[in-house]
Formats: sequence, C-alpha cells, structure tokens
Amino acid sequence: MSKQFQYDVLVIGSGAAGLSLALNLPDHLRIAVLSKGDLANGSTFWAQGGVAAVLDDTDTVQSHVEDTLNAGGGLCSEEAVRFTVEHSREAIEWLIEQGVPFTRDEHPPGDDRSFEFHLTREGGHSHRRIIHAADATGAAIFTTLLQRARQRSNITLLEQRVAVDLITERRLGLDGERCLGAYVLDRNSGEVDTFGARFTVLATGGAAKVYLYTSNPDGACGDGIAMAWRAGCRVANLEFNQFHPTCLYHPQAKSFLVTEALRGEGALLRLPNGERFMPRFDPREELAPRDIVARAIDHEMKRLGVDCVYLDITHKPAEFIKSHFPTVYERCLTFGIDITRQPIPVVPAAHYTCGGVMVDARGHTDVPGLYAIGETSFTGLHGANRMASNSLLECFVYGRSAAADIEASLDRVEMPQALPCWDASQVTDSDEDVIIAHNWDELRRFMWDYVGIVRTSKRLQRAEHRVRLLLDEIDEFYSNYKVSRDLIELRNLAQVAELMIRSAMQRKESRGLHYTLDYPAMLPEARDTILSPL
Ligand code: FUM
Repeated sequence: MSKQFQYDVLVIGSGAAGLSLALNLPDHLRIAVLSKGDLANGSTFWAQGGVAAVLDDTDTVQSHVEDTLNAGGGLCSEEAVRFTVEHSREAIEWLIEQGVPFTRDEHPPGDDRSFEFHLTREGGHSHRRIIHAADATGAAIFTTLLQRARQRSNITLLEQRVAVDLITERRLGLDGERCLGAYVLDRNSGEVDTFGARFTVLATGGAAKVYLYTSNPDGACGDGIAMAWRAGCRVANLEFNQFHPTCLYHPQAKSFLVTEALRGEGALLRLPNGERFMPRFDPREELAPRDIVARAIDHEMKRLGVDCVYLDITHKPAEFIKSHFPTVYERCLTFGIDITRQPIPVVPAAHYTCGGVMVDARGHTDVPGLYAIGETSFTGLHGANRMASNSLLECFVYGRSAAADIEASLDRVEMPQALPCWDASQVTDSDEDVIIAHNWDELRRFMWDYVGIVRTSKRLQRAEHRVRLLLDEIDEFYSNYKVSRDLIELRNLAQVAELMIRSAMQRKESRGLHYTLDYPAMLPEARDTILSPL
C-alpha cells in the first residue's frame, strides 16, 4: 500500500547542500531529507579537495572574485560570485562550529597569522585558500553534518527513497503554479508514496553519470534538473560539463579521483617518456584552470595514441605525501602503485555539471515553493568553467540562504491539502529490463564520444538523433511498466543529456568547457544558454 506523508520541508538529496539547508532551518519545522540509496552514497562523501574561502589575512574577497571570474571564461554572474565569496568566511565558521575536523596548520616560528587551519592551493586560485580535511574533506564534512542531523528530532532521514516527479498545482490541474511535494519510490516496499510539503528543495547533485567515464558515484543522474524541467523550470548553461583532469587510470579503479591538491602541492604532469607538457599549453602550467589542463591531456593522449598520462609527486618527501594525501596514497597502493616512488597513471573524466536549474540568490526556481541548491542549481557562480573547490562553498552559502528564505516565508505558506496518490493501475512488472541496461550503456557511450571534451557540430547532431530515439523508447517503457530506481535514473539522465546536447548546439563558439572544432573562437559577447520548457 502506498503511503501519504506531510512535512514542512521536503529535501530531496542528502549531501552537503541538503544537509546544510536542513540544519539551518528552525527546530520547530518537520523536515524530511531523502537519499536514493544509503545516506553516504552521494558526491559529497567522495570530495577530496576542500572548500575555497577567503580566510587568510593576505587574501581578499576581490582576489577570490577575480580568480573565479577568470576561470569562468567571461560567463560568471559577477553578482553571484560576489555574493558567494562575501559569504564564504561565515559558511566556513558555521562548518567549524558544527565540528568539521579541518586540517590544522603548524605555523613556523615568527609567522603570527591568526588563522589556525591549513590552506592549500588548486588550479586557477592565486592564493592558498582551500580549507580541507587532509584529502578526504567531503567525508569529514558529510560525517559531521549527518551526525548533527541525527541529533535533531525534527529532521527525518529517509534512505532508499527515489523521487519520481514533483507534484505541482499545474500537474494536478489546479489554479496556480506552486510545488506541493513529490512522488517518491520507496525501494523497500516497491510502492510510490506521496510526500506533501510546504517547501520542496532539490539538492540532488549533478549529472556527470551521463558520461561513460566519471569521477562521480552512481547516483549523479541529474534527477533534480530533470524533475525541475518537467515541472516547468528554466535551466541554463548545461553545455558546460567539467572534466576533472586526473582520475586514476586502472582497470579496477572505478571512478577514483586524484585530487587537484596534489598539483597544488607541486605534482607534475608527464608523458609516458617522462617529459612535462603543461608548460607548452599555459604559463600557469599544472595549476591552469581545469578546462585547459583536461584539454591539454586529451590533446597529448590523442596525439601520441597513449591510454593515459602520469601525475608525478615523487620529488616530495614520502612523509609529506602520506600525511597530506592519505586517501590517494592508500587507494593507489591497493592497485600496486606507491605514489611516493611511482608516477600515477591518470586520465580526464566527467566531474561536474556547471549548468543547472536557474535560481536566484535564495535558491528560488521558477516554480513557487520549489528551491534548488548545490550542483543541481545554476546560480551563475561557475560560468563556463567552475574553479576548483568553489562548488562545496556554493552548497553551504546557498543552503544557508535558502533556509533563511524558507524561514522568512513560513507565515505565508500553508500545508497542502491531501494530494492524489500515485496511479499505478495501468502499469505491470517489466519483463524487458535488458532495454534499460542497453539504453544506459548506449547513452553514456555516445555522450562520451560525441559530447565530450572536444565537440563538433556533426557529432552533436548524431548525439541529438540518438537521444531522441532513446527518449521515445524510455517514455514508452515508463508508461507501461512499474518504476524502478534504474528506470527513474535513466529517464532523468536521458532528459538531461537531451538538454545538454541542445545547449551545446546553441553555442556557436568555444568558451571554457565547451570546445568545438567548428567554432574554435570565442565570441565577443558572453551569453548564457537558457532553455525554457514552457
Ligand atoms: O581535485 C579535487 O579535489 C576536486 C575538487 C573540486 O572538484 O572542487
């Protein structure tokens, strides 16, 4: 039997954005936080690098703003960048208050800087401004925030719950546009339950799983973006998919990232013959922004016909490597690579979705009552290329501002009346799951081949043709068979892929992460690619 639930706030997604929003809401609200699988399965847990913020006396807001604007290829919203950076210090102070165990610094004698935590560097940053917990920052943040959420009796954490679609007044044929909650598959019972909510928040992360090779965990399927689109929200800049330059290249190392902080601490990129190549591509060498480094690696791999390049930190003392990068050290060792003595084989892989659901500084989408935060959203912060470690910062800044906005709106928003249950009367159990598996593989393969680091108009046309066929097939499947996690994710991923391809086709230039051989130059005017479903 399917069930009905009512909450003041329904948060779909249990990572950095969702948890920080929930923890910043008042204690008297009933809040549900949904996770598609186990709570720790999201991208936050796997983030290694850290959080960028202006924390050191020698750093300035202006410098962080300028670095972000430079990395963003002329497409960042300066307002969003300034808003985020100006709130960076208080976001970090909040995390420290929650108890996140950031790595502390040992200042040398005579150095009287007041800030007690270690700050590292990453590509595009002109200062050391990344606060981190060794090389497992996401795990430290997630574990701390989860523990805090568990201590709050008004927050209900629900695992194995997959949101299928948002419930809006328009969908129900009522007057108005408001979001009233969501239909959610309970993977334990197999039923689709109805969650009514005064406020609904999409914090489902990005869509890097649309590519065959990705640094992201399995759940990064663009669920929030696809649901928001179907509910009537505009999306922006979905052609900008960031490829992380250095993921471990090893047949058994599924999606293991080698943090950019290694390059921040001096690691060098080398060809198989040991030669360095980044100085040929950019004066910032290994610390150029990610789009440049990933494209340089792709170029060298294709030029030489090699399967990977190498990241070399062997010139640093072994103790330094082990203490700063214990996660990378241990993980590589399990594959027989001792990074204190051997260079690490690496390749670029899809890492971050820079575009998303359009929101303002308080996380409002186009649909009243519906918020989007974190990687799901498009705030204008990242422009055409996200600067490293600005994304976790965005989760906290916008998680907190959206929470403040919900609190300020409480008087004006009632709990929705009883909502209709999910109708499963017309569907049966699938006897053709091979179609789902096949379409997953096909989608991720052609996105990698045709909508990857280097694009052409012809490749995009091929991808568009294929994604339309897949969408038709998936729609038919969805209309006839009971929903499962795989089907819901595939439906969302195919929808987001279609939006990515459409956005890429609209951009007749190369800028930041969107590089096409047919339009290699950057146009004089920078414009967002905005798609509207209505
Ligand atoms: O390289 C990294 O540790 C990733 C950081 C980021 O994506 O911000």
